Amino acid sequence: MSDREPVASAETSEAQIAVHWKEEALIHPSPRFIAQANLADPSVYERFALDNFPECFKEYADLLSWDRYWHTTLDTSDAPCWKWFVGGRINACYNCVDRHLPKYKNKAAILFVPEPEDEPLVALTYRELYVRVNEFAALLRDFAGLKAGDRVTLHMPMTPELPITMLACARLGIIHSEVFGGFSGQSCAGRIADSGSTVLITVDGYHRNGAMIDHKVNADIAVEAAGELGQSVDKVLIWQRYPGKSVSKTPLVKGRDYIVNDLLKDFAGRRVDPVSMPAEDPLFLMYTSGTTGKPKGCQHSIGGYMAYVAGTSKYIQDIHPEDVYWCMADIGWITGHSYIVYGPLALAASSVIYEGVPVYPDAGRPWRIAERLDVNIFHTAPTTIRMLRKAGPDEPAKYDYHFKHMTTVGEPIEPEVWKWYYEVVGKGEAVIVDTWWQTENGGFLCSTVPALTPMKPGSTGPGVPGIHPVIYDDDGNEIETGSGIAGNICIRNPWPGSFQTIWKDRQRYVDTYYAKYCKDPKSKDWRDWPYLAGDGATQAADGYYRILGRIDDVINVAGHRLGTKELESAALMVEEIAEAAVVPVADEIKGRTPDIYVSLKPGFEANKETEAKVVKAIEGTIGKIARPKHVYIVPDMPKTRSGKIMRRVLAAISNTLDIGDVTTLANPDVVEEIRVLVQGKEKVATKEAPEDLKRFGEEG
Ligand code: PRX
Repeated sequence: MSDREPVASAETSEAQIAVHWKEEALIHPSPRFIAQANLADPSVYERFALDNFPECFKEYADLLSWDRYWHTTLDTSDAPCWKWFVGGRINACYNCVDRHLPKYKNKAAILFVPEPEDEPLVALTYRELYVRVNEFAALLRDFAGLKAGDRVTLHMPMTPELPITMLACARLGIIHSEVFGGFSGQSCAGRIADSGSTVLITVDGYHRNGAMIDHKVNADIAVEAAGELGQSVDKVLIWQRYPGKSVSKTPLVKGRDYIVNDLLKDFAGRRVDPVSMPAEDPLFLMYTSGTTGKPKGCQHSIGGYMAYVAGTSKYIQDIHPEDVYWCMADIGWITGHSYIVYGPLALAASSVIYEGVPVYPDAGRPWRIAERLDVNIFHTAPTTIRMLRKAGPDEPAKYDYHFKHMTTVGEPIEPEVWKWYYEVVGKGEAVIVDTWWQTENGGFLCSTVPALTPMKPGSTGPGVPGIHPVIYDDDGNEIETGSGIAGNICIRNPWPGSFQTIWKDRQRYVDTYYAKYCKDPKSKDWRDWPYLAGDGATQAADGYYRILGRIDDVINVAGHRLGTKELESAALMVEEIAEAAVVPVADEIKGRTPDIYVSLKPGFEANKETEAKVVKAIEGTIGKIARPKHVYIVPDMPKTRSGKIMRRVLAAISNTLDIGDVTTLANPDVVEEIRVLVQGKEKVATKEAPEDLKRFGEEG
């Protein structure tokens, strides 16, 4: 991306501020919330000041039970691959399960809510979780032959078997790589191959939006496609949604496919000692979209990650063991790993897992669940909040639930939506934290500390304790603190939850996240290695950050990252397609969705079938989540004289923005043709738009 033009500078920021929502007034938490908060002591910011770095993070690590303490808190010798708590030994599963038994064995660890409303809730106590994790760990070790350091791919939806599988892996030091259940078999294959997994763990089916999804069919696609990529899978372990009864019509492959529930009969009552692992060994891989098309396997550590998610769950989400906590994300994303499974369970909370979609069968569903279970901490994304607000703005008031705390995560939230969340969902009682972070980070980077720093709709807040953000301009100059000028947000210091590297691709890790602002590539001093998050941001005079969106070719759809290149290469698999360009388009519910522009090879005619083939190719390769809003078949792509597709022009057309000067293009006339195709003959008044849309594709 070295040919990229400055994406944010002092000149662009004035305009940007004008189009963005205005700074909102601060809102203070209630005295009642403060009185019960885990963290109400303002000295925390001093304790976690840079002067006390890195030793300050002992406070988080001490929330865990260690087999052996570390000798080095932060080892920077292989910068920027940071190692935390070196010399320490620990087991993540022990910390989430075993250690709670003396006090909490009969307390619900997981409350599973099936999508069909007439199906009973399943409450797994810590004791029951312990039993089931042990039995499955025995199966993984003694039947599947897996051991510490092996990778195993999970392609599982939202049922309790997913955390059971993750924890069983963690118990043995096996590195799990869970692929979001909604991704296609093809997507799963890429991750199987990259991680080198020989075992795939899946389910036969699950409920989604009133239908029973045959999921096992994806395993067949995944194993075959992984084989083509050179990775053979010798065992597919299939959990049944209803033990003893298959909900999938896809036949089993003899000698490869095994029904977990059948195998488990041989492991009844088995116990497996948690393997004492070096703190800096990997706990899991989580793949995320990047700019080049190939998803990146973010490698997360055991000790550092667990310390960070336990600390942030306790202090930012204010989780106490007696809380009923519901994060409505999917465990297939980092939010679910950190804040449904590892963080809440490390603190002995009761964590709710809901199988289905939020508005099934109607927009009152989440509030009925909250009322029934007496959920008091709630966590979701702006896209869901927008959806629930649209489908049932008055629903929350009909139900008798009371949240003390709510989280929003994954994309910027409009102040108007924030206020509905606060007043209607939270009934004016709950504090809100707007947590900004990424798959790479393990846990929150910016947020208010709920009892200490007031809320500001539309702003994430300052760095959380121990996180020290800085905004740079494109030339590496620090943008003045609190100036409101946009730039690239970075973090000055490493933190324990950060990923360690990209699996098998250290160079890409360094290039993507550190190369841009590294002060000395040979340095072993962390001060020389600011972490580049890839988001644009501003900081207001009060120190609160506002996130403006991605600065790269990644589209954040409904809080999930999709690489534009991934979509484009999927479209190019369609025989008729010569060129493809994906741009983000503003969407009322999902925030952004992709629009795709394609041009055809000579001899092919534009028609609906070709459009449908493009959609099918994208859904088949990536998953329904990547479905484009529109497919436009254009006579030619707008191009620079050097032949580069001008995505900026296409993004402007899709979003009815000012197209700007196109006279220097190789084919300026095509721009008006495309505009007419998308917007119609009449000139449409241009709109104002968020900065990420205006800046999209600026590299030209
Ligand atoms: O652009 C930022 C946006 O989501 C990106 C990270 O996506 P992902 O790795 O899928 O992780 C999502 C959940 C942690 C970021 O680069 N983002 C995340 N949280 C926020 C946000 N944008 C604005 N406000 C947030 N609170």
